[in-house]
Amino acid sequence: MAKSLTTTDLNIYYGDFHAVKDVSLRIAPKSVTAFIGPSGCGKSTVLRTLNRMHEVTPGAYATGSVMLDDIDLYGAGVDPVGVRTTVGMVFQRPNPFPTMSIRDNVVAGLKLAGVRDKARLDEVAETSLRGANLWNEVKDRLDKPGGGLSGGQQQRLCIARAIAVSPQVLLMDEPCSALDPISTLAIEDLVAELKSTYTIVIVTHNMQQAARVSDRTAFFNLSGAGRPGELVEIGDTADVFSNPECSQTEDYISGRFG
Ligand SMILES: Nc1ncnc2c1ncn2[C@@H]1O[C@H](COP(=O)(O)OP(=O)(O)OP(=O)(O)O)[C@@H](O)[C@H]1O
Ligand SMILES: [Mg+2]
Repeated sequence: MAKSLTTTDLNIYYGDFHAVKDVSLRIAPKSVTAFIGPSGCGKSTVLRTLNRMHEVTPGAYATGSVMLDDIDLYGAGVDPVGVRTTVGMVFQRPNPFPTMSIRDNVVAGLKLAGVRDKARLDEVAETSLRGANLWNEVKDRLDKPGGGLSGGQQQRLCIARAIAVSPQVLLMDEPCSALDPISTLAIEDLVAELKSTYTIVIVTHNMQQAARVSDRTAFFNLSGAGRPGELVEIGDTADVFSNPECSQTEDYISGRFG
């Protein structure tokens, strides 16, 4: 079931370095939100705090809160590993386990969780690959290594792997930046379909992509030279692109910087 995400006064650090300040935003269930902004403003950093991946970096931490509906993801007793299942992530470079079979790549998370029933694993592999629009291309070679697929197929394999564990939110950090235009469109179509089931946040440097796939757009920027990144504005994508509230947003969208 798709859920909402709400951050309140999120401040994010790498040791002494204050990377992002005071981010408060709400992401509605079954919507696509694009994170845009110049390099280094903290888009990936914010994304990684939404499923507690940030704290995997030694010395990295965050203050403030991240709520998944009414659950505080940083609350006492919350298991970060469970959070990363509920809030799945797809990375910039496709990262399948290269020598593992296509089928085992998809169900790796379930196997890790102790599922051993082969019929059940096969069923989840098929529904996840269908969900990622990859089934028809790989159904005759499920036992072949994941590393043998094209880049675009590998990225869809990673999406299948993320959805196999039934997440409620999918975080995607520039999922198309290593892909050709046709694979990029395939992923964009897929995002549009996945939205009916999941809440999606996608980081992108491609303004056309943000305009095509997202319902809401959040623009981040540095709050000054050497200063932390901040959320400048968030709104409906059509409004942010055609009638932004802040001149910085307009300058960025119209290509005047970044
Ligand atoms: N592991 C890390 N250790 C220390 N500082 C980091 C680390 N990762 C990122 N940073 C710093 O945090 C700030 C935000 O980085 P982040 O990667 O979130 O930016 P971004 O908006 O995703 O940029 P890009 O568009 O280039 O991917 C930058 O100043 C960056 O150098
Ligand atoms: Mg980034």
